[in-house]
Amino acid sequence: MPDKIFETVDAYIDGLFASEDAVLENIRQRARAEGLPEIEVSAGQGKFLYLIGKLAGASRMLEIGTLGGYSTVWMARALPAGGQITTLELDARHAAFARETFRIAGLDSQCALIEGPALQGMESLEGPYDLVFLDANKDQYPDYLEQAARLLRPGGLLLADNVIRKGAVLNPPADDAMARGAAEFNRRLSLHPQFESIVLQQVGRKGHDGLAMARKRS
Ligand code: SAH
Ligand code: DHB
Ligand code: MG
Repeated sequence: MPDKIFETVDAYIDGLFASEDAVLENIRQRARAEGLPEIEVSAGQGKFLYLIGKLAGASRMLEIGTLGGYSTVWMARALPAGGQITTLELDARHAAFARETFRIAGLDSQCALIEGPALQGMESLEGPYDLVFLDANKDQYPDYLEQAARLLRPGGLLLADNVIRKGAVLNPPADDAMARGAAEFNRRLSLHPQFESIVLQQVGRKGHDGLAMARKRS
């Protein structure tokens, strides 16, 4: 259970810096009505992805784990004219929902969804990408790391959500495949010769978690 003050301050920050327009509100409303899992990034995290995308000048983005397309829309809005985000999703229902999201958001031509297992999807892609955002099943994060290293351009940016998991990565229980995957991802990323990296610890409305950030060496 996160401290209430962290949630309240998170809402304060989002109220100031990450207010949602009708499109983003609509995605959340449709997602709850459809019973999609309530695990999309928060508005503030979406704004962070948007800002980082702009700072990186990223015109080719790759997202692993689409859900309803909420984070995809935040990132797509940071694309320059002619930019593209490719997003990979295993679940057919989530994929159909996200395609509808992109239509409603007027982002059909900027967002390409590939339905199927993300590892196969990544293996089928050719780089270079400027930015890769990992946010699907955490047990395969170590595999996604290797694919991201292949697909990113030198100087490209890797982001990975949910790599702290309320501290479970400190000593991951044998039966927590997600925490084990995240911990192994963090370990490999920290040792990876092709990346310079850090993890940002996060608290707020999504509890206690963390975001990994890494730059592929030039
Ligand atoms: N990025 C989204 C949230 C993604 S939730 C947002 O912030 O809005 C994680 C998603 O990963 C779910 O939709 C789930 O179906 C998908 N997923 C899980 N395992 C996967 C796999 N092996 N390949 C591709 N997608 C997967
Ligand atoms: C889970 C997945 C996420 O991507 C997230 O941001 C939070 C929770 C989960 O599967 O538990
Ligand atoms: Mg996540």
